[in-house]
Amino acid sequence: MLTRENWGSKIGFILAATGSAVGLGNLWKFPYITWHNNGGAFVLIYLVSVVIIGWPIMMAEILLGRHTSESPVPAFEKAGGKGWSIVGWLGVFTGFVILGYYSVIAGWTITSFISCAKWSFSGYVAPASGAFGDFMADGSLQIFLSFLFIAATAIIIWRGIKEGIEKVTKILMPILFVILVYLVMMVLFLPGRNAAFAFLFSPNFGELPWEGVLEAVGHAFFTLSLGMGVMITYGSYMRKEESIAGNAALVVFLDTFVAICACIIMYTIIFTAPGVKESVSGSTVGMLFITLPNLLYTEVPFGTIIAPIFYILVAFAALSSTISLLEVIVSLFIDKLGMTRHAATFIGAAASFIVAIFSALSLGALSFLSNFSFFGKGKEGVLSTLDHLAANWLLPVGGLFITLFVGWRFDKKICENEIALFGPDGNTTLTYKLFRFFLKFTAPIAILAVILAVIIMGKDFS
Ligand code: PHE
Repeated sequence: MLTRENWGSKIGFILAATGSAVGLGNLWKFPYITWHNNGGAFVLIYLVSVVIIGWPIMMAEILLGRHTSESPVPAFEKAGGKGWSIVGWLGVFTGFVILGYYSVIAGWTITSFISCAKWSFSGYVAPASGAFGDFMADGSLQIFLSFLFIAATAIIIWRGIKEGIEKVTKILMPILFVILVYLVMMVLFLPGRNAAFAFLFSPNFGELPWEGVLEAVGHAFFTLSLGMGVMITYGSYMRKEESIAGNAALVVFLDTFVAICACIIMYTIIFTAPGVKESVSGSTVGMLFITLPNLLYTEVPFGTIIAPIFYILVAFAALSSTISLLEVIVSLFIDKLGMTRHAATFIGAAASFIVAIFSALSLGALSFLSNFSFFGKGKEGVLSTLDHLAANWLLPVGGLFITLFVGWRFDKKICENEIALFGPDGNTTLTYKLFRFFLKFTAPIAILAVILAVIIMGKDFS
């Protein structure tokens, strides 16, 4: 067997893992769900969730990957025996599900960028109402866009860990952060700034629907790419001398930073434009793809410069996430089925594309796919159903198994060694104790609450 590739530099893991975490979850989902959960209190609960659930689970995944040097299926097999490897398979299945709809939405960033570039050069023309609906219902265009996205992802994965993922995220991530900070600085000059900050940072628990608490927990999984083995896979390429606690903390911090910045940008613009607050588009896609471009051109100084740049940012963020989704699939094919990286990439990408075709046609193009309702709760269409399945079921269930395995079943001494290795001086024991407590108790209880809420009350958190 070949020796396993490692990240080429210390920053390799951080960039790739942050790239995976930061994506449409931060720029599309988070601003939308925070808006609908009335801001402040939801944000606070979310911040608590990422610290006491997200951080320990991320550490658990990384340590499992690094200790075994394997992708999720063989990692569980090595550490816990054949039975546990089901958790790894579940993760790979989840990868197909998420990639199969995420790539479609990611494709929209390409057209948004093209429209904005056109408007910036030749003047803004407000799209007719219903234009976005027509765009979504254009089946062949939707398939083509998702194909572009999956192809771009496959080209990078094809090249491997150091030459592909690491090289690309090394370029993409710094650009992404520069664009983001630039946008935040731009909007800070707008008058809506204070209202946006008040909405985000002054918690009023009376305004938080209680399901919002559980929604925050569910979203923590999605946005941090937890519960399906991304971090096990990326952790398996991590060198032994690096601090798991420190790396995980930094990834969680950066992901949260991007999500909060995205809210500051969008809400400041929304609060600046008179009358917009009431009419923020009610659909999930609305805020990012309909409301925002319009406001950028009509209300924001330098909006013509900001708008195209912003959609490049969203596209980059989505791309570094699809890379991690495909890598989980590809590394399984390599480790378990003995394929070459090239064959694994081709087959993994082709299979994901088939799922994507169904999602792409479920936005109005084909009525039986668009009206498909698996959960029978008005979740219409394949794309929404897959999102619902992944965010409410697959990721929390996968995450629950990971906490139970690493917290209760896995060798305690190994955990301690992996976490303690090069931990921050003097704090190693404290970090380890906190990790253990959160992983054994807080995280599984919170996840169970999400799952039970979904089952008993039919709550929908996607
Ligand atoms: N974390 C990514 C985002 O926020 C989505 C993702 C989920 C990626 C699970 C990989 C695995 O967009």
